[in-house]
Amino acid sequence: MKGIILAGGAGSRLYPLTQVASKQLQPVYDKPMVYYPLTVLIASGIREFCLISTPQDIPRFEQLLGDGKRWGITIEYREQAKPEGIAQAFLIAESFIGQDPVTLILGDNIFFGGDAFPRAFADFKSGATVFAYHVTDPERYGVVEFGLDGKALSIEEKPEHPRSNYAVPGVYIYDNDVLAIARAMKPSPRGELEITDINREYLRRGTLHVQRLSRGTAWLDAGTSTSLHDASAYVQTIEKRQGIKLGCPEEASLHRGFLSIDEFESVVAAMPKCEYRDYLSGVAVEVRRLGIGAA
Ligand code: G1P
Repeated sequence: MKGIILAGGAGSRLYPLTQVASKQLQPVYDKPMVYYPLTVLIASGIREFCLISTPQDIPRFEQLLGDGKRWGITIEYREQAKPEGIAQAFLIAESFIGQDPVTLILGDNIFFGGDAFPRAFADFKSGATVFAYHVTDPERYGVVEFGLDGKALSIEEKPEHPRSNYAVPGVYIYDNDVLAIARAMKPSPRGELEITDINREYLRRGTLHVQRLSRGTAWLDAGTSTSLHDASAYVQTIEKRQGIKLGCPEEASLHRGFLSIDEFESVVAAMPKCEYRDYLSGVAVEVRRLGIGAA
C-alpha cells in the first residue's frame, strides 16, 4: 500500500500565517501539522510516501521531512501547480502508485484515538474504504447517507441540505482502479477533480465500504485560526494529562518496527536538547525496560 499526503492549497483562511509557511507546516501545539497525518499512516503500516504540495512549499517540506530514511520510511515529493482538486493527486502520483493500492490523507486532518485506521488497512482487500464521522456542520464536508441496513446510499460534496450528519474525513483507501477512475474524471462546477466523485464511482460499482468512526476517535479540523487554536489546545490537554505525545513519526516507526530501538536512539541523539527529545528519550527507556510503549 502506497501513501499520499496532500498538503497543497493556498491556505487563504489562515492568512497572514500562510504568508511564510503553508497551512500544513503551521504548529499544532508542539509539532508541525503534517506530523499528525504522517504519524497516522505510519502507525497504520504505510512505509512508502509521496507528499504533494505547491512548487513554493515543497522545499520547506523537504527541509522538514527529508527522504524519510531517518524514520525507516521513504518520502518522494511531487508538485501540484494549481489547486485543481484532491482527486488530481492520483494523476500527479501515478508513477509513484504503480500497480499498488493507495491511501490518501489530507495534510490538515488530525486524528487521535481508537484503532480504526490500522484495522481498516489490515482488512483492506479491494474496492474503496472511506470513513464517516458524526459532526454538527456536515454541509462543510463530503456527506454520506446510510440506509437502514447500515450501507451507504449516497455521497454528496458540501450539500446545501445534508442528508445526514455523517461527514467523510480526509483519509481514503483505494485499490489500483482509482487510477483509471481519476483519469476518466471531469472537473466539477468549481473546477476541481472531486474526491467525492471518486467515492461515488466506487459506490456505483458496489465496492465502496464506509466505516463509521466510533466516538472514541477524535477528528479535528485545523483550517481556520480558531480551529487551529482549538486543535492545539486539544493536543496539549491530552499530552499533559497522559504524558504521551500525539503525532510523533519517530515513535510510530519504532512501534511499527520500521526503526529498531538502536536506530531510534541514534535518531533521538541527533536532536537538539528540547522537550520533544526528552519525550522520545523516555520512550526509548520504556521500550528497553518493558519492550513496549504507551499505545
Ligand atoms: C475536502 C473534501 C471533503 C472532505 C474534507 C475532509 O474538503 O472535498 O469531501 O469531507 O476534505 O476534510 P475541503 O478540504 O476541500 O473543504
